[in-house]
Amino acid sequence: MIAPHPDHPPKTFRIRVRRQDGPQAKSYWQQFDVTYRPNMNVISALQWIAAHPRTADGKQTSPVVWDCNCLEEVCGACTMLINGRARQACSALIDELMEHGSTITLEPMTKFPVVRDLFPDRSRLFNDLKKVQGWVPIDGMLDLGPGPNEPPDTQEMRYAMSRCMSCGCCLEACPQYTLTNHFLGAAPIGQARLFNAHPTGAQLKEERLVTLTGPGGVSDCGNAQNCVKACPKDVPLTEAIADIGRQATVHSIKNFFSGG
Ligand code: SF4
Ligand code: SF4
Ligand code: FES
Repeated sequence: MIAPHPDHPPKTFRIRVRRQDGPQAKSYWQQFDVTYRPNMNVISALQWIAAHPRTADGKQTSPVVWDCNCLEEVCGACTMLINGRARQACSALIDELMEHGSTITLEPMTKFPVVRDLFPDRSRLFNDLKKVQGWVPIDGMLDLGPGPNEPPDTQEMRYAMSRCMSCGCCLEACPQYTLTNHFLGAAPIGQARLFNAHPTGAQLKEERLVTLTGPGGVSDCGNAQNCVKACPKDVPLTEAIADIGRQATVHSIKNFFSGG
């Protein structure tokens, strides 16, 4: 099917949703015929379904549950599988999706437990960011003045890493990251690189490297490089993994010679 012509818009399009009533419940499919409006995105289609919770075969049902916040591809909360690919529902435009067919399939991400329907529990990702201490340690509320200067090439690298919105697309694509193992995955490794390169953040570098050389650390990466292709923010994840791998090696050698 080609994209809807502005002079002949379709009356409806179909959304197929993999639903799940709770964390332990079995998933099932439901289909909805949504009234077309120009410039819709997947969130506005889900809002339409919430206002008209009736399946394509006319059965009344509960509204589909999903998460969202910024609505401008910045918070990562609305990430789901759209036609099989992990991406943000707020930036997934219906007109573009309809270029590939008039049915759009929505599923929750598979690497996180499902809370309900399209709403995953991404706590593991946030806990892993805590484990790598993905922050600059500044104690107190006093104005400490400007921070230390950073060379432009470090700023440029850190800017690229700072675009991460913790959406989890890189984890969804990673063959090494599973529901049951403890691999940190690409996003926390990228954030460790971001903060290890910060003049003040580097105070925690060795502590981060203890985590990153431990179980589930950087050596669990199989270097399949799916993560970098899946990242909607073009975060240079393979560079980050290689850099943190080097930092981890230096850290382990230093530890070996210091008897640590
Ligand atoms: S390089 Fe491959 S194994 Fe490593 S984090 Fe990326 S997708 Fe996963
Ligand atoms: S690195 Fe990219 S894909 Fe991974 S969580 Fe951050 S923004 Fe999402
Ligand atoms: S709602 Fe924030 S990325 Fe979509």
